[in-house]
Amino acid sequence: MDLINYRDDRLFVEDVSVADIANNYNTPCYIYSRATIERHWQAFDNAAKSHPHLVCYAVKANSNIGVLSVLAKLGSGFDIVSGGELARVIKAGGDPKKVVFSGVGKTEAEIEYALEAGIHCFNVESEAELDRINKVAAEVGKKAPISIRVNPDVDAKTHPYISTGLKANKFGIEREQAKRVYQKAAAMSHLNVVGIDCHIGSQLTELQPFVDALDKVLVLIDELASVGIKIKHLDIGGGLGVTYTDEQPPAIDDYVAVMLEKIKGRDLQLVFEPGRAIMANAGILVTKVEFLKQGEEKNFAIVDAAMNDLIRPSLYSAYQRIVPVDASLTRDSKTYDIVGPICETGDFLGKDRELGLEQGDLLAVCSAGAYGFTMASNYNSRVRPVELLVDGEQTHVVREREKLEDLWRGESAL
Ligand code: LLP
Repeated sequence: MDLINYRDDRLFVEDVSVADIANNYNTPCYIYSRATIERHWQAFDNAAKSHPHLVCYAVKANSNIGVLSVLAKLGSGFDIVSGGELARVIKAGGDPKKVVFSGVGKTEAEIEYALEAGIHCFNVESEAELDRINKVAAEVGKKAPISIRVNPDVDAKTHPYISTGLKANKFGIEREQAKRVYQKAAAMSHLNVVGIDCHIGSQLTELQPFVDALDKVLVLIDELASVGIKIKHLDIGGGLGVTYTDEQPPAIDDYVAVMLEKIKGRDLQLVFEPGRAIMANAGILVTKVEFLKQGEEKNFAIVDAAMNDLIRPSLYSAYQRIVPVDASLTRDSKTYDIVGPICETGDFLGKDRELGLEQGDLLAVCSAGAYGFTMASNYNSRVRPVELLVDGEQTHVVREREKLEDLWRGESAL
């Protein structure tokens, strides 16, 4: 479904050659495809069209204003986890009435900001947070729409750092406690109970954990109805996986169809919070080979992108494909570790990759549209890369490459 492909052995993003972009804008650079973003979002929206629903793109996956504006134009909702993300959504033209606010540590200021903006719902993760939202809502004279994030205690079978639905995780309220907490919320003066929410983890490649979680939440919805608490929307979170290499995650349509089938006949709006499924394969990180180095045990390709630009390989041992931008060049291939210039052994983008390389070659790190730039840092005082959004034959700079002065903005010498 993505529009990042080879044409005669040259890598293109939509109708623009990646080599041309690298020439014009330099490396490292992130490149996103507008049409791919749109297709992925519409796949959710179309598959769910027979039922009331809201697709709330998870802003943390890629929060660039250009990307958000593309989604806002489609009528997307947004899943946010901070006041900063809400500000970005509003800046990009997103509708606050379609925003759900997740996250375990919402501050009073963030709650007030979201109440004033008039968001769709707060996804509440603890009893203490209920008290805080009720207090802030009373202070500003509003009723806060809330749902409770229920921890269904299912194993998402994904990397432990991105698995969230087990009892051992910090997220949500245990299922056994949920009914009591809902009753408490329903009795609070400035809360309006509207929904229920669960999110069990990210990069899930099987449907079963989603189904198990949904089954448990549906039982709870019925229990709540029996004590007079009517749930209007069911937020099933995000987490649908993508293909980085040979994973075979469920197609978006199949995932949505299974979820719809489960809630057939119920008067429930379905809310989705996909991040990775929309953005990961809508973007690449392009980097240049600076040096080749033959070690005794390993060959290294030292490239101009590093763990500060894309931390997933270092942080989660995540595998992302690394491919030549010009595949027509014939070279003897060797096994390389693709490493960055940062002073850490953990600074790599890929290990043991079979590639034919020469100094100056361009490489594309695939599936880098989600959790790429948003997790980038300035470690080693490296400026963060330029971000480009391709739309057909046009290339838009949606974030300039940082300048040296940006590195110390707000700092002062004594
Ligand atoms: N909703 C909630 C409440 C979440 O915590 C997340 C992701 C999402 C939705 C979106 O999940 P997605 O559809 O993207 O799987 N940095 C990690 C991923 C962390 C995901 C955190 N929560 C990575 O690079 O793999």
